[in-house]
Amino acid sequence: MAISHILVTGGCGFIGANFVRFVLEQRPGIRVTNLDALTYSGNPDNLAELAGHPGYRFVHGDVRDRGLIDGLLSDCDAVVHMAAESHVDRSIQDSTPFISTNVSGTQTMLDAVRSCGRPIRLLYVSTDEVYGSLPLDRPDIQFREDTPLAPNSPYAASKAAGDLLCRAYHHTFGLDIVTTRCSNNFGPFQFPEKVIPLFVTNLIEGHQVPLYGDGRNVRDWLHVLDHCEAVLAVLDRGRRGEVYNIGGNNERSNLELTRAILSIMGRSEEMIRRVPDRLGHDLRYAIDATKIGRELGWRPTRSQWPDALEQTVRWYTGNEAWWRRVKSGAYREYYARQYGG
Ligand SMILES: NC(=O)c1ccc[n+]([C@@H]2O[C@H](COP(=O)([O-])OP(=O)(O)OC[C@H]3O[C@@H](n4cnc5c(N)ncnc54)[C@H](O)[C@@H]3O)[C@@H](O)[C@H]2O)c1
Repeated sequence: MAISHILVTGGCGFIGANFVRFVLEQRPGIRVTNLDALTYSGNPDNLAELAGHPGYRFVHGDVRDRGLIDGLLSDCDAVVHMAAESHVDRSIQDSTPFISTNVSGTQTMLDAVRSCGRPIRLLYVSTDEVYGSLPLDRPDIQFREDTPLAPNSPYAASKAAGDLLCRAYHHTFGLDIVTTRCSNNFGPFQFPEKVIPLFVTNLIEGHQVPLYGDGRNVRDWLHVLDHCEAVLAVLDRGRRGEVYNIGGNNERSNLELTRAILSIMGRSEEMIRRVPDRLGHDLRYAIDATKIGRELGWRPTRSQWPDALEQTVRWYTGNEAWWRRVKSGAYREYYARQYGG
C-alpha cells in the first residue's frame, strides 16, 4: 500500500527537520503532519520555508498526550516516531525527561496505534547506542541486528526500552512495526550541543573545543540525508517486525574528527582543550549495515569523508544567524510568543 500521510514525531529537531523536508521533496503529493513539543532542541525555524506548503502541517504537542495522538492518527497511514530526548550528557545529569519521553512517550504512541482500528505502520527511530560498546582492538567486530542490547548510558537505556516496547507490541498485538538503529548523524540543523556543530561554532567564536579524555573513542558517521533515505526505504519496504541497522561504514575517532574540523577551519591543535572523560563513555560503535543493503538496496551515498564533513562545516559557517539564536537560547521566548509554550 502506498503511503499517503505520515505522522512524524520530533520533526522540528535535527533529523526530523531533514526527514520532513526530504520526504516532501522525494514524494510530491504526500502529506506530512509534524508533531513536536518544541523542547530546547526543537526549532520550527528549521522548517520555516514549508509554511504554506499544501502537504505540510505542524502540530505543537507532546507524544505523551494520548488524546492528541488519537486525533492525529485518524487520517494517517504511517508514523515515523523519532521524538526523543537525545543528548547523552543531559541524560547523565538527569534521566527523568528521558524516561518520560523516550519510554512513556513511545508506549503512548504504541497504544494509540494499537487502538486506532486501522492498520498503521509505525517506524521507530532507534540508535546504535542500544548495543553498548565495542572494544577498540577488535576492528573485526561490528553491531549486527541480532547483537544483544547492552545500553550503557541512561539515554541509550531509554531508547532501548522504547525499542523493546516496539518489539513487544509487534509480537503481542501483531502491530506493523519496523525499527531502525542508526549510527551518529552529521549535517545541517543539528543542535550545537552535539560535537560537530559545537566544535565548529566554538571555533568561529574563537573558543577552544572541549575534547573528552584522550579522544580515542570511535563513532561511525553518517550524513543525515543518507539516514533519511534509509528510514524512508524501511518505511516503504522493510519487513514487518524487523530491525534494520543503518551505518556509514565511516569509523572515526573523536581526535581524528576534531583534527579534521580544525584542518577544514584552518586552526591548529592549540584550539583543543582536553576535558575529563564523559562518565561511562562508550569506546566504539560500529555498524554492520549488510541487511538493509541486501534486502532494500540502500547504501550511503552522501557521507563521503572528508568532503561531506567539509560541506557540513560550511553550512554552519554560512548559517551563523541560525546557530547564534539557538546557542543564545533566544528561541525560548520565541516559542512562548508563537506557540504559548
Ligand atoms: N542524532 C543522531 O546522531 C542520532 C543517531 C541515531 C538515532 N537518533 C535518534 O533520532 C531521533 C532524533 O534525534 P535528533 O538528533 O534529531 O534529536 P533532536 O534532539 O535534535 O530532536 C528531538 C526532537 O524531538 C522533540 N521532542 C522531544 N520530546 C518530545 C515530546 N515529549 N513530544 C514531542 N516532541 C518531542 C524535540 O522538540 C525535538 O524537535 C531520536 O529518537 C534519536 O534517539 C539520533
